[in-house]
Amino acid sequence: MRRQIVAGNWKMNKTHDEAIELIENILNATYDDSVQLIAIPPSVYASEIVGKVVGSKMGVGVQNSSQHAAGAYTGELSSAMVKSIGVEYVLVGHSERREYFNEQNSVLAKKIDQLLANDLTPIYCCGEVLEEREAENHFNIIKNQIEEGLFHLTEDQLQNCIVAYEPVWAIGTGVTASSDQAQEMHHFIRSLLIEKYGLDVANTISILYGGSCKPSNAKELFANPDVDGGLIGGASLNASDFVAIANSFS
Ligand code: 13P
Repeated sequence: MRRQIVAGNWKMNKTHDEAIELIENILNATYDDSVQLIAIPPSVYASEIVGKVVGSKMGVGVQNSSQHAAGAYTGELSSAMVKSIGVEYVLVGHSERREYFNEQNSVLAKKIDQLLANDLTPIYCCGEVLEEREAENHFNIIKNQIEEGLFHLTEDQLQNCIVAYEPVWAIGTGVTASSDQAQEMHHFIRSLLIEKYGLDVANTISILYGGSCKPSNAKELFANPDVDGGLIGGASLNASDFVAIANSFS
């Protein structure tokens, strides 16, 4: 069966002490331990947070890593480095990376290769902007992102990936996709995976929803058959909101 996952992308927020307080408050709360929780702090705190989560069911991710294995790439983090500090997950192709850092599908595919070669789990993000949805081009955009980012992978490799659908118009705006819009796109993504990899493989891939997901709407979103959890931004910065979202599977 597919894993239910709630991941918190802290983005570029929290000083050191605030980050430690947040992870401690989450770990001290009562959450459904059948759900895989993942904290994705700024990478400068990742090593310390890996130490904090030992003995819990929380996994740790970082928000980005390089498409290169090693070398003269000032400011970058390699997959091997990330792996060596005990991180398990890495976001790939978040819309903010696509928009502000001009990350294209072809580069994202290489990042995924580096991660898989280092036994890390990519969380591959896809999503359309508002104009694309209004022009009714959103399915084409997602198809293209999924095909160019993932379809070079073998079945086994794909099964080590998580997909996150984050409509860009819903990120940080307070406007969430409706439950029906989320299910429609998640079902579409799964059908692309079925077409390429078959039903058995596609049914093992967790597809997370992201975009203004909060305690008040998580239950309805997660009740959909193709929504396997959430990638949470703003609400993950508050321990009680994050834990309430993690407890929203019925
Ligand atoms: P918000 O939950 O703040 O809309 O952000 C979603 C997101 O981008 C998670 O990666």
